[in-house]
Amino acid sequence: MSTESVSIYPIPSRLQDGPEVPFIGPNIEAYRKAHAESVGPNADNWWAKMALETLHWDIPFHTVRSGSFEHGDVTWFPDGYLNASYNCVDRWAYRNPNKTAIIYEGDEPGQSVEISYGQLLREVSCVANVLKSWGVKQGDTVSIYLPMTWQAVAAFLACARIGAVHAVVFAGFSSESLRDRVNDCKSRVVITADEGRRGGKTIAIKQIVDNALKACPEVEHVLVLRRTGNEVSWTEGRDKWWHEETAKVPNFCPPALLSAEHPLFILYTSGSTGKPKGIVHTTGGYLLNTALTLKYVFDVHENDRFGCMADMGWITGHSYIVYGPLANGVATIVFESTPVYPTPGRFWEVVDTHKLTHFYTAPTAVRLLRRHGEHWVEKADLSTLRVIGSVGEPINPEAWHWLNDYVGRRQAAIVDTFFQTETGTVVIAPFPGAIECKPGSATVPFFGMEAALLDPVTGKELEGNGVEGVLAFKRSWPSIARTVWQDHSRWLDVYLKPYPGYYFTGDGALRDKDGYIWIKGRVDDVINVSGHRLSTAEIESALILHDGVAEAAVIGASDELTGQSVHAFATLKPDFEYDSEASLVKELSVQVRKTIGPFAAPKKIYIVPDLPKTRSGKIMRRIMRKVVAGEGDQLGDLSTLADPSIVEVIKAKVAAAHC
Ligand code: WTA
Repeated sequence: MSTESVSIYPIPSRLQDGPEVPFIGPNIEAYRKAHAESVGPNADNWWAKMALETLHWDIPFHTVRSGSFEHGDVTWFPDGYLNASYNCVDRWAYRNPNKTAIIYEGDEPGQSVEISYGQLLREVSCVANVLKSWGVKQGDTVSIYLPMTWQAVAAFLACARIGAVHAVVFAGFSSESLRDRVNDCKSRVVITADEGRRGGKTIAIKQIVDNALKACPEVEHVLVLRRTGNEVSWTEGRDKWWHEETAKVPNFCPPALLSAEHPLFILYTSGSTGKPKGIVHTTGGYLLNTALTLKYVFDVHENDRFGCMADMGWITGHSYIVYGPLANGVATIVFESTPVYPTPGRFWEVVDTHKLTHFYTAPTAVRLLRRHGEHWVEKADLSTLRVIGSVGEPINPEAWHWLNDYVGRRQAAIVDTFFQTETGTVVIAPFPGAIECKPGSATVPFFGMEAALLDPVTGKELEGNGVEGVLAFKRSWPSIARTVWQDHSRWLDVYLKPYPGYYFTGDGALRDKDGYIWIKGRVDDVINVSGHRLSTAEIESALILHDGVAEAAVIGASDELTGQSVHAFATLKPDFEYDSEASLVKELSVQVRKTIGPFAAPKKIYIVPDLPKTRSGKIMRRIMRKVVAGEGDQLGDLSTLADPSIVEVIKAKVAAAHC
């Protein structure tokens, strides 16, 4: 797609003179001024002001920031003390205990409840007291493997209340992935549920946990939320019901006094190498940026009802279901179901029923719903929607326009928000009412962000407009992750050493003639499927765990629906015997589901006699990528291949699979 041909999309009139005046103001100058201040010589004063205005500090800070990307020792507000749970719950509960904090929309339509700030404070306190009674102390980790229930929010905040570090594992991960994560962060406590419900199906959550914990010797306690009430297996002494334990403890727990640099959570994410990394975020900086991005990027006002449809197990859920909305004292939705259950009108019924002011989802969901036709959207009253957000992958202009025309009805702002688990919160996005949009561009950096495009070879910063390179950020900002759990050298190696003095995102990007930023996708071996970040190395490692597999190579191909899809090539051990190729392919798919989770299963698996390799044995993924992309006639020079004849075999295999 050429960025030159894209026209600038004007700000909807409603955001220029509507009832809620946008925080930034109806012109780009206000943004430019605030951005210049936030990165200029008085940047620290600007941040100090924001931090004091936005959060409640038990002990205010004197130092705003210290350290640098060069040294990998960044801190923010290091001598300040605060509590994230107090900031997200108590502040609002004392002001108005009946105000809605959470709108829980269950899997079946009509199963919704609203939880007030007062109720949330009691639930958070009770869970915190249960954890304390089990000896959980400041700095201990607690693993959370919960479906999308409102109590999951209470579990996050209960940890934050006592200074325990939550490590949430997306409930789509397999028991093996869960086991590895629980062991990596050495949790003594796991919080889970009996079962989950999603899209009309029951998910055996507790059984997955039980399987995982067979190999987690350090886990002593499991707190089990009753979601469906069906019978589940039980380990006496270890497993305790949430409703029974919380009934035994006082319903107030004083919030712990915590340093701003106290770790708030660990969230595992995939990278170029096999083992997932436990990304660590800290209390003060993370909370400040979640609160500020929610306020400015989404223009959230006091009585808004925020609808983020992500899963709480990913960073978008952490920042924009839990911490961002609650740190602003607004209502947030916890949506348990899928966009198409029971019909493709579900999202819009939810917006209509709950009068959501904001709607935030991934382009994949938009592409899926677009296929089902406009009539599902047109039926609903979506007039409350002011801002619609997209996240997780580049949004194609068709999806952007569909959101704008049918969901926003040209009266809502569309914000394409770029961020990562590591950046913690949105770092590039338009500001409603202030920035005119170009469909497909995440537009401009957030406050404090000094985006830089670097030449991938020389590492030199590319100045001016009309340049393309790898995306990096020059100076630290409050919500940048601090480290990889128990592996600081990995943090330095992956993110800070590739381009000294910069944080390296792993994405390529372009700055067009107007200075707008376009994210071009990953430049490493990460594949983005439906906004889920998958590591090719991790999937390859899963495949070779199968008895028959000798070697595996995984590549990403573009996919109309899911953005990208996983294609895997496998060679077999010479003496391995099997019934049929179809059944073997199924087994390999099961292997990936079992090792990582169903969402990582390859779309296609090709059994091949050999992989294209150079004479020195390096696998040439480029060739497989081109063949799958239908560019098999443009492979260029193949003379470096050890056995060029394999290319024809691969082409034939791929062609046969696509018939
Ligand atoms: C991609 C998800 C284009 C990007 C929040 C990044 C995007 C990775 C966008 C992080 C966007 C996220 N446009 N690409 N608006 N948002 N990405 O850690 O490749 O799960 O590096 O965080 O998603 O994925 P993660």
